[in-house]
Amino acid sequence: MGTEYIKVKVPATSANLGAGFDVFGIALEVPFDIIEVKRSDRIEIIITGRDSKYVPLEPRKNTAGIVASILGKNVKITIHRSIPLSSGLGSSAAPAAGVAFALNEMYALGLSREELVNIAAQGEKVASGAAHADNVAPAIYGGFVIVHKDKITSLYPENIGIVAVHPQIVVSTRTARAILPKKLSLSDISFNTANAANMVVGMMKSDIRLIGESMENRVIEKVRSTLIKGYAQVKKSALNSGATGVTISGSGPTMIAVCRMDERENIAKAMAESFSESHVRSEAFITTIGKGVEIIDDKPA
Ligand code: HSE
Repeated sequence: MGTEYIKVKVPATSANLGAGFDVFGIALEVPFDIIEVKRSDRIEIIITGRDSKYVPLEPRKNTAGIVASILGKNVKITIHRSIPLSSGLGSSAAPAAGVAFALNEMYALGLSREELVNIAAQGEKVASGAAHADNVAPAIYGGFVIVHKDKITSLYPENIGIVAVHPQIVVSTRTARAILPKKLSLSDISFNTANAANMVVGMMKSDIRLIGESMENRVIEKVRSTLIKGYAQVKKSALNSGATGVTISGSGPTMIAVCRMDERENIAKAMAESFSESHVRSEAFITTIGKGVEIIDDKPA
């Protein structure tokens, strides 16, 4: 049963959306990685494209290799990378999610999407030190997801403009998690809960204003923004250019803005210029909430 070869396209993802630390995530239409999986006699990993020289090839240190090993499948995995590394755009989650999905199809394993998320999150653990699923879940489901323990809920809002600006600053997820406070005040919990609830309503209604305004997070943003040079000015420039909300994408350093589709270019330009004023180079992705992992070929070239 199954096939010898599968090629999948896996989206970048943005976790947290401010209000939902380790709970919310969205799939982005761009950037994305392409992953080829072929049956073999051992687990082998080849990486091409962006930042490839920094990604470990040893299967037990690679998020995709761990997934293949959990599923007990000997495969050659070729990852064509476009998602920038350590960016807060789910670069370590994409290969884990892509390979979990591909192996399920290739070997007709019959695993549910929840099970695939769980397995992919184990792969993600090697990269960040924690098996949080708020990147792997949207990479598999697409759309907007709410992850809580083994339960995943998804929504598919439409026409949500997203600008993700990745500054050339290195922030590791491990560090960005280590600096977070262990205790929160009741008023901060209440503020974040209200925003998280409103975010879900915003996603249900595809309401750009409600989504943007619900992105404020009193605890995480305050602490992590100190790792992103120029954060306050870049946020201000995006809001002044029409963004309805701005926050840190995952553990950063990418900053994500929500806006109308036709305002994306202007906002991207304003954010990039603002980073430049702080002498930080950046790259903008003009995108929207997109689909999850999908098969794009099942025959080797
Ligand atoms: N929820 C995780 C964090 C996402 O913020 O640490 C990491 O990309």
